[in-house]
Amino acid sequence: MRMTVIGTGYVGTVHAVCMAEIGHEVLGIDIDHDRIATLAAGRAPIREAGLDELLARTVASGRLRFSTSLAEGADFARTHFVCVGTPQRPDSKAADLRYIDAVTDELARHLRPGSLVVGKSTVPVGTAARLGRRLAEVARDTEVAWNPEFLREGSAVEDTMRPERIVVGVSSPHAEATLRAVYESLLRAGAAFFSTDPATAELVKVAANSFLATKISFINAMAEVCDAAGADVTVLARAIGADSRIGNRFLEPGLGFGGSCFPKDIRAFAARAEELGAGESVAFLHEVDRINIHQRQRTVTRARQLTGGSFAGRRVAVLGASFKPGSDDVRDSPALAVAAALHQQGATVRVHDPQALDNARAALPDLTYALDIPKVCEGADLVLHLTSWPEYRDIDPAALATMVHTPLLLDARNSLDAQPWRAAGWALHALGRPM
Ligand code: NAD
Ligand code: UGA
Repeated sequence: MRMTVIGTGYVGTVHAVCMAEIGHEVLGIDIDHDRIATLAAGRAPIREAGLDELLARTVASGRLRFSTSLAEGADFARTHFVCVGTPQRPDSKAADLRYIDAVTDELARHLRPGSLVVGKSTVPVGTAARLGRRLAEVARDTEVAWNPEFLREGSAVEDTMRPERIVVGVSSPHAEATLRAVYESLLRAGAAFFSTDPATAELVKVAANSFLATKISFINAMAEVCDAAGADVTVLARAIGADSRIGNRFLEPGLGFGGSCFPKDIRAFAARAEELGAGESVAFLHEVDRINIHQRQRTVTRARQLTGGSFAGRRVAVLGASFKPGSDDVRDSPALAVAAALHQQGATVRVHDPQALDNARAALPDLTYALDIPKVCEGADLVLHLTSWPEYRDIDPAALATMVHTPLLLDARNSLDAQPWRAAGWALHALGRPM
């Protein structure tokens, strides 16, 4: 099949590459000329496991091409996936739909009869219906469907090639048949398929992200109670998670969630529910957000206590800048938020990250960055573990102890093995467990 993928960010790049990999002819489109030139040269603008290889292969095969022209896209295919950003509005907590509206208006001028526009972006419920009406004013015989994206950064290619489920929100048998054909090989490999109306599909996406964010804030709330009671939240999480009705995933306590999606998605969902008169039903999401942000403040406060009540003249080594391991994305990164707060409060902050240093430097140029863990930790009064990159579990605590000024570590992700650090003479602290 032929298709376009409009917006070649995290979602669009991975979707375009994977659709070409499963045999489709794909045209990736973006307004960012540099990004399109990079992609057309077979280079990925983001770091994702397995992406470079698939991109090079699909571009070389001729099945994947790139363009900056929606007119060319409308000519090329009758199925168009829209993957542009839906960030938080600058003036409220609602979603900013300006990019999706701009694509719809521009596409409408060029679409051929019989075209299907498939939204993959995360949007407020009702968006597909609104865009459908907008399109119909200009373009004859066109339809809007919604096919939310569930990939995780860091495993985006794997999640797209082997999805647990595919959800499509459609208004006609033609749209459902088209999307079944797009995903045929993934469905044959066992992905569950849910076909529903567009509003339900839009809601499935924000409900899933809200549930996962709630799980994380729940365990972080438990961590605060554990701190107060002298109990261990890591044992608590494993023990409640052993009940299969609860499940042990997304119960890792620590600094909380960040990234370009959970924070803005729960806020946009609450804002949309308020517009619909159902705000009270999801008022708990404000609390999920508050608990999450509080973990960052709690980490800063704990770090300040550990450095004697003030950061003035203190050197702090920060391990991790990305919002999660396996990704170079620093959008709303809890680690960088903590690093910035420490810097503002007078600490000299040096940051390590195996992949995200370029993005971190661009976002927070005032801090010092290095790719070398001993260099970052040299002379440090405190080491803060803020993103659980696997390489931090391989650190030799004895060797690192000789580099720092004070062997003092706050594991704000609760993912380092305490025993070897203690054995090497480190004073170890964590969130939600007595050390
Ligand atoms: P992104 O910011 O990485 O990429 C968006 C891209 O759209 C950019 O390259 C931008 O230049 C392009 N764009 C903007 N206006 C355009 C236009 N008029 N025409 C063509 N291209 C245009 O965003 P993302 O992280 O890929 O997220 C996209 C959507 O998918 C969001 O709604 C997000 O919530 C959702 N989502 C993201 C993830 C994720 O892990 N990042 C996962 C699931 C869902
Ligand atoms: C999340 C969802 O997992 C995807 O299904 C969804 O498609 C995506 O959001 C989206 O809509 O953009 P992602 O943000 O890439 O994916 O990463 P996650 O693995 O979900 O982690 C999100 C944040 O939660 C990270 O900051 C991570 O460190 C944190 N987290 C995760 C915890 O603090 N504890 C946990 O137990 C799990």
